Amino acid sequence: MNDGPGSRRRAVPAQSEGDVNHSPHRRAWAARNLDGATRELIAEDARYFLHQSVSTPCLSAIRRAEGIWIEDVAGRRYMDFHGNNVHHIGYGHPRLKAAIKAQLDDLPFAPRRFTNEPAVALARKLADIAPGNLSKVLLATGGSDAVEIAIKVARAATGRFKTVSFWDSFHGAGFGAASVGGEQLFRAGPIGPLLPGAEHVAPFACYRCPYGHPDIDGRPDLDRCKMACASYVRYVLEREGDVAAVIAEPARAVPYLPPPGYWRSVREACDAHGALLIFDEIPTGLGKTGRMFACEHEGVVPDILVLGKALGGGILPIAATLCRPELDVAGAWAFGHYTHEKNPVMARAALTTIEIIEDEGLVDNARKVGTWALARLADMKARHTLIGDVRGRGLLIGIELVSDRATKAPAADAAERVMYRALEQGLSFKVTMGNVLTLTPPLVTTEAEMSAALDILDACLAELAGGPG
Ligand SMILES: Cc1ncc(COP(=O)(O)O)c(C=O)c1O
Repeated sequence: MNDGPGSRRRAVPAQSEGDVNHSPHRRAWAARNLDGATRELIAEDARYFLHQSVSTPCLSAIRRAEGIWIEDVAGRRYMDFHGNNVHHIGYGHPRLKAAIKAQLDDLPFAPRRFTNEPAVALARKLADIAPGNLSKVLLATGGSDAVEIAIKVARAATGRFKTVSFWDSFHGAGFGAASVGGEQLFRAGPIGPLLPGAEHVAPFACYRCPYGHPDIDGRPDLDRCKMACASYVRYVLEREGDVAAVIAEPARAVPYLPPPGYWRSVREACDAHGALLIFDEIPTGLGKTGRMFACEHEGVVPDILVLGKALGGGILPIAATLCRPELDVAGAWAFGHYTHEKNPVMARAALTTIEIIEDEGLVDNARKVGTWALARLADMKARHTLIGDVRGRGLLIGIELVSDRATKAPAADAAERVMYRALEQGLSFKVTMGNVLTLTPPLVTTEAEMSAALDILDACLAELAGGPG
């Protein structure tokens, strides 16, 4: 077996979106912080669950989740600025719990050959809030499945099978979703072979442009780069000539925002070459970026939109694939024949979650608190040389740590130290790509809570630098 750098079977995958569960910093944190009962539960978890990167063995164990807070089994509370992006409305929202309980009494399940009122009401609601005319819906129990439905719809509607997607992206763990994903962790080593025709391009990433163009303080220098990242998508669509769809997150989870006009350019290229545009808004949809959908910032409507995660209100698993009615062309086949496709309890949860987001003005809150946070982080960047870049939109925020602003050498060790120190002070967040502190708090986060979280980060960064920031 060849485990060299080019081998499909390399023993350790490259850095990915999530922080790793086997680092020395994690061991040190665990030694300092975990009590006997927690250790026992983690050990039992590791005994019974299959081990896999970025989950088992676990970091710690929790016993409560409420609002923006999680509480571990030892009773310590953490602001959850990660939450897998499921907790837009906060954990355990009382209105959502009441709606789910009522639905359990009313109609707990519907075999697929029967429709039901909550499922239809949800589909109607999704069609109402979606951009453009994305009025046909299929429901699934997870984002990965919903992405795969989108790929199948694109295949059926175009008669083609190829896709173009981003390296470094994540679209789910199923074979189809992992094929369009671009992270080794989910597609290389023992996992392949994957779908044929899943082509990849380098994504937009202005602070570290994969095409080698310089940035201006994290923003693109469009006069110089001419948006090479968008041109290359057009080039691939033209050369391949028979691509079914481009699939991507409109705002990348790393996070990276697209250069202005990027998606308009890709949309035009898709139209010119007969490819559909699929937006995966599983983490960003339903308000995370300060608009109901991240693609609304770009003024671009996809042909297919995929939602998940927060759709179930942080309680139930549900995802949705929305598309234009013209793509409803394969009624004789089955794309998403999932047992719980129209589960009324899941549907009620999703419908109520959207109503809560609307009634409580949570999209606006995400925009306001996010704008405030980005301003505060710009100030922190001026004081902490470790911060190379601050970027984001709404409550999707990234703070990239570098050991040298000129070379942009990633400060991965520092990022992990900050993450574990912050945990000790009651703030949980994820480190992405090794050195990006990624904050994705719930949409219910107040300015005071955001301020408290950034105080913790500020203090951790100062501590690392050996004094006040
Ligand atoms: C952008 C994106 N797409 C798809 C998925 C997969 O969703 P699920 O884990 O529900 O299958 C995720 C999950 O993290 C995601 O972030």
